[in-house]
Amino acid sequence: MQSFARFLLLSACCWSAALAATTKVVCYFNTSALKRPESSRMLLSQIEPSFSYCTHLVVGYATINTETYKAVPPSEDEHTTYTNIVALKRRFPSLKILLSIGGGAADTDTREKYFELLESDEHRTTFVSSAKSLLKQHGFDGIDIAWEFPKNKAKKDRGTFGSIWHGIKKAVGAAHSHTDEKADEHKSQFSALIRELRTSLRNENALLTLSVIPYINQSLYYDPTALNQQIDELHVLAFDYRNPERDPKEADYPAPLYPAGQRDSDLSVDGNIRWFLENSFPASKLVLGIPTFARTWKLTEDSKVSGAPPIETDGPGDQDAIVQTPGLLAYQSVCTLLPNPSNKDKPTTLRRVNDPSNRLGSYGFRLPSGDVNGLWVGFEDPDVAAYKAQYAKTKSLAGIAFSDLSLDDYNGICTGEKFPIVRAGKLKLRSP
Ligand SMILES: *[C@@H]1O[C@H](CO)[C@@H](O)[C@H](O)[C@H]1NC(C)=O
Ligand SMILES: *[C@@H]1O[C@H](CO)[C@@H](O)[C@H](O)[C@H]1NC(C)=O
Repeated sequence: MQSFARFLLLSACCWSAALAATTKVVCYFNTSALKRPESSRMLLSQIEPSFSYCTHLVVGYATINTETYKAVPPSEDEHTTYTNIVALKRRFPSLKILLSIGGGAADTDTREKYFELLESDEHRTTFVSSAKSLLKQHGFDGIDIAWEFPKNKAKKDRGTFGSIWHGIKKAVGAAHSHTDEKADEHKSQFSALIRELRTSLRNENALLTLSVIPYINQSLYYDPTALNQQIDELHVLAFDYRNPERDPKEADYPAPLYPAGQRDSDLSVDGNIRWFLENSFPASKLVLGIPTFARTWKLTEDSKVSGAPPIETDGPGDQDAIVQTPGLLAYQSVCTLLPNPSNKDKPTTLRRVNDPSNRLGSYGFRLPSGDVNGLWVGFEDPDVAAYKAQYAKTKSLAGIAFSDLSLDDYNGICTGEKFPIVRAGKLKLRSP
């Protein structure tokens, strides 16, 4: 009897240790949403319903001052925003709030500072102590580093149209192609920076995480073994494998779980995650990033009528009223364009194409007609978020991350649920 009880106890202990649970739900929040024009501005109170789902809030993005190499907020009044965000912990005490430094800014000129900083011991020291000051000043629970390494070149590897375009780009683009001759040094300097940050945060009981932003060549700049020793989690922002800025002439699945057809496996969620696992980075610290936004392209008279990707396009699709960025749609804009009872006969309504294989993602499109522009939209919806969360569970990853809260349907206009994409991911993690 006694030994049976001990057996039960033993198995309870060891089962839970053996089955690494996928539990973290990391929610990014781009504070620029608080500064949108009034009609589409988000209020801080509107992110609160997401805290039923999020375990971590990553506040983006602080930046680096080009003259001093200090980590600084993008503007002085951002300090007030940080104070207000951290104050949310009073009502949501279990929420971990991290400040992210870096991000996916569009400006390429300022990117040099990220190398200059790495290359100098003195600049690194300045950066580390300024990051720690920001953490302490506002009472963040940790620092997330979203380092802006140079973007790799857009890659074309498919389709008849694609290969013609590829040929042209290759012929004219060779001279501009970016090669970082000091990549090895930058890689070890980056590992050193992370180590120095960890050392400096040691007495602060602070989390240190890394966000791998899209288009960065992972094998050039990340040393998974060295990083693993220092960081608590690594968030792979696994999206934008295709985007209208980099691939203006051809639309394709922006964030497929697996490569479509014969396309390059590097350009898929699975390829991205597997690279870290195959390079000895533990699944138990890896977090899978899921976008809440859609990428859009303009279809033309020449685009094939089937809508199937890859498909010829003419640049980014028109902007919406919420984020006002060509080629980018918030989910609440997507769901109003997808067929629903209230837009049945509208010429702007898209044809929706689901992906029953749960491998590629969904898309919608409309061909140009009359005054209505053609549009191709590769989107994430609650179903896609759920099967990506399932993938994270299958691989025993630490969790999932959403980028970002301001682009999910925070008003609940799609189905009445607020943050339906984040919610679907969380529910999938919870379900057996
Ligand atoms: C944050 O939002 C602003 C305004 O919508 C946008 O310009 C910026 O690119 C976003 N930043 C990131 C890293 O997505
Ligand atoms: C990334 O860098 C490696 C060398 O470390 C190179 O072989 C590979 O082609 C690069 N990938 C991209 C997408 O540029």
